Amino acid sequence: MCGIVGYIGNRDSQGILLEGLKKLEYRGYDSAGIAVFTSNGLEIKKSKGRLAVLEDKLKDDPLEGSVGIGHTRWATHGKPSDVNSHPHTDNSSKFSVVHNGIVENYLDLKDELIAKGHVFVSETDTEVISHLVADEYDGNIVEAVQRAVKRMRGAFALGVLTEYEPERLVAVRFASPLVIGVGEGENFIGSDIPAILEHTRNVYILNDGEMAVLTRGGVELMTTDGENISKEIFHVDWDLVTAEKAGFDHFMLKEIHEQPKAYRDTMLGRIADDGKSVNLKELNMSDEYIRSIRKVHIVACGTAYHAGLVGKSVIESLARIPVENDVASEYRYRSPIITPDTLVIVVSQSGETADTLAALREAQKNGARVLAITNVVGSSVAREANDVITTWAGPEIAVASTKAYTSQLIAFYLFGLHLARVLGSQEQSAVEELIEGLHALPEQVESILEQAPVLKQVAESMAHHKSLFFIGRGVDYAVAQEGSLKLKEISYIHSEAYAAGELKHGTLALIEEGVPVISLVTQEALYEKTLSNIKEVKARGAHVLAIANSGFETEVAKSVDEIFAIPKTLPILSPALAVVPLQLLSYYASLALGHDVDKPRNLAKSVTVE
Ligand code: M6R
Repeated sequence: MCGIVGYIGNRDSQGILLEGLKKLEYRGYDSAGIAVFTSNGLEIKKSKGRLAVLEDKLKDDPLEGSVGIGHTRWATHGKPSDVNSHPHTDNSSKFSVVHNGIVENYLDLKDELIAKGHVFVSETDTEVISHLVADEYDGNIVEAVQRAVKRMRGAFALGVLTEYEPERLVAVRFASPLVIGVGEGENFIGSDIPAILEHTRNVYILNDGEMAVLTRGGVELMTTDGENISKEIFHVDWDLVTAEKAGFDHFMLKEIHEQPKAYRDTMLGRIADDGKSVNLKELNMSDEYIRSIRKVHIVACGTAYHAGLVGKSVIESLARIPVENDVASEYRYRSPIITPDTLVIVVSQSGETADTLAALREAQKNGARVLAITNVVGSSVAREANDVITTWAGPEIAVASTKAYTSQLIAFYLFGLHLARVLGSQEQSAVEELIEGLHALPEQVESILEQAPVLKQVAESMAHHKSLFFIGRGVDYAVAQEGSLKLKEISYIHSEAYAAGELKHGTLALIEEGVPVISLVTQEALYEKTLSNIKEVKARGAHVLAIANSGFETEVAKSVDEIFAIPKTLPILSPALAVVPLQLLSYYASLALGHDVDKPRNLAKSVTVE
């Protein structure tokens, strides 16, 4: 999972490549590099570390030329180092490759190339590609790339240059995202649209097994088998400014504050004006099909998986259809029982997560219909699923997912209500009450955001602890899991989320004087039980912060050290509010510890490797 860019035109390429890489740093940022045709031939500059390190290197000694490729890396094969950084080249230094993905059979290919005399300098799979292309080259770079990719297994988006043909930039997509930007007298490649949006709004979105040959004057599209293809240009009508920080210190904070808008946008046009029903007209599934669904599998990774845990409660309670949740990386390998009456829902902010995509394909192969809940129009998941509910959260840049998660919750509420309408599984009054509750959420989130200073203080006192616990019951447990992940990923504080009643079966042994426990208490039917669990940890010295629903917060306050009340809502809707203080706690804890909030160590925004 890395980011790639490329440029061919008449302008100086270095600045264009670096700007593109800045937009792509969310995909990985342990090293960066560019290759440019200069008056000396194909020159490469690369270095370990953030893009800023490369920029410094290039300041005094720029690469001047109007054709180039660039890369920002998230290490898979080989540790972050100068030599493992991209672009890679072959022994003649006449070829240069940037790559996002993994070549699974690279060791076999490497052995074969070594036997032919190739000498490798890095530990990467990508270096094998540059040698392979060089080995296949007999005067035509397009054909050489086609022959090379035929021999490769795995996932790859590639940008390839050769000094022998400086007027062509070759791009290939196979299971890793790649778009081609079409300009006037110049053309671009990028792992995503924001990387090139500053220069053009006209893009081709490549499918797997497709490639593009870019010259200054045009773009030729073909399959990797060499068959010419034509595609419609996708005109991007969204604004780059939406992808900037808009005055906030970090993207994460900006995105937390964008949640009221994301809720409204995701609901827009999907709820009838009279507030009596939800109709997701974008779904292709017929009412007859909905009536035939006997079970649902929800499959996703990380935060999206946590949204799916809430989705299970929503679908089971609104539509009375049984739901199973799976982590996408496990799904394929457990031989899930998928029948034609199984609806598989995949959830993915980026729509490019390799494990989620593989689960989608596995489900379809076994005859299931797949519904995707995704934030990226035109992403792989969106294109391959049978039905799509787009979450209109807008671009999410921070590695820690916030507004995408809550928009996924909204999508589940809407889908649950859509099912309920078709199945007649809910009283009309309950539907209307739920819709009213949904409409109230954006303002309720705004009122939580206004209390950010309180949460900042709590976070600062919590940040110096080595370990803490999140507990909850029912959907509160699902939210606890998300709160724990959020804290871990950006503050590096060890934390665990437990079903409140489960602590006493082992983990209670870890509770000692002063250990912070964050307890979610938003479910009226369960709060007395949760209070008992709070008492258990209090008795062992824990310092308890409760996130409680207004209505019973006075009662809860008596048993805890600190309390944060969220506005009153229906029990099933409470995750869409309760998670917000947890996001803010994580944000301020990370800040207090001086970490890079938007780019936590070891992580990347979009995980396109299995
Ligand atoms: O793009 P996706 O929603 O498929 O990504 C899934 C996870 O990688 C992602 O949610 C990850 O867990 C986030 N960094 C958590 O904040």
